[in-house]
Amino acid sequence: MNSAQTLNVVVTAIEQVTPLIKHFTLAAVGGDPLPAFSGGSHIIVVMHTPARAHRNPYSLLGSPRCLDRYEIAVRRMEESRGGSHYLHDHIRVGSRLEIAHPVNLFGLDKIARKHLLIAGGVGITPILAQLEELQDGSTPFELHYAVRSPQHAAFAQRLRERAGASLRMYYDSENQKLDIDALLSGQPLGTHVYACGPAGLIDAVVATARNLGWPGSHIHWERFAAPPVGDAFEAYLARSQRSVRIPSDRSLLESIEAAGVEVPYLCRGGVCGYCRTRVLELDGELVHNDHFLSDAEKASGASIMPCVSRARCERLVLDL
Ligand code: FES
Repeated sequence: MNSAQTLNVVVTAIEQVTPLIKHFTLAAVGGDPLPAFSGGSHIIVVMHTPARAHRNPYSLLGSPRCLDRYEIAVRRMEESRGGSHYLHDHIRVGSRLEIAHPVNLFGLDKIARKHLLIAGGVGITPILAQLEELQDGSTPFELHYAVRSPQHAAFAQRLRERAGASLRMYYDSENQKLDIDALLSGQPLGTHVYACGPAGLIDAVVATARNLGWPGSHIHWERFAAPPVGDAFEAYLARSQRSVRIPSDRSLLESIEAAGVEVPYLCRGGVCGYCRTRVLELDGELVHNDHFLSDAEKASGASIMPCVSRARCERLVLDL
């Protein structure tokens, strides 16, 4: 992904859908149809603030059939590094934004016999678009959606219309707990499970499915975690012959981009593998935070996913 592949869009509507979540509708500047996407896709929103550029991934929640607009929902993160606060506080109807083309790393499996969709909080967004694809009724599904309280249930009306009796809501405020073990134990062969939401929910779904013997190919999840902070260090980009300082609150990828060197990426969340970069030298240890490299690959220290991983060292030399 690079700047040549981005699109300019204008914000056409903003709605506060829960105390923490704003819903933004975007249209192409000039009104042309936007690129096609499928349920589960995300876009990267590029925000140029005075201090820095932010590139945050957000799932598309609207219908893949309506290409006159994209819809995203942005949760105000308590510990935002700036991106979500910028969208909440500075973006108005009429504001322009730069976005990357949609990418789908969380699509519905075409040969699944049944879909079991599990979402928590703002993790409902990719599932909203997936529901649009399930409207023909050819594949059965269940949707389980856990939120803090009824006022935090974003898009509840839209969900009821799309999912009908297949929707089950769980409110923490009413002590309604999602029993993941029971849910995953009672599914017919050929069911695929999809989880999106807080890390704890995703980890629990994935671990439970694996413990119950679900094939890895039937377990899908989407997580957009901000890159973890860490110690500052120095990276040297061997091919570009540039030194880059990585501050504690910026990712390695962001720091390399700020230095004008492009690295391919899709998810910016440590799952797609696109940003994989060869490590040439290191005088300390890598801090792997991704979900892409195997344990053996992480232990070898031969490569790093700079979107989320960093190093504890004085100097890291990369093949960039
Ligand atoms: S961009 Fe997807 S793993 Fe880094």
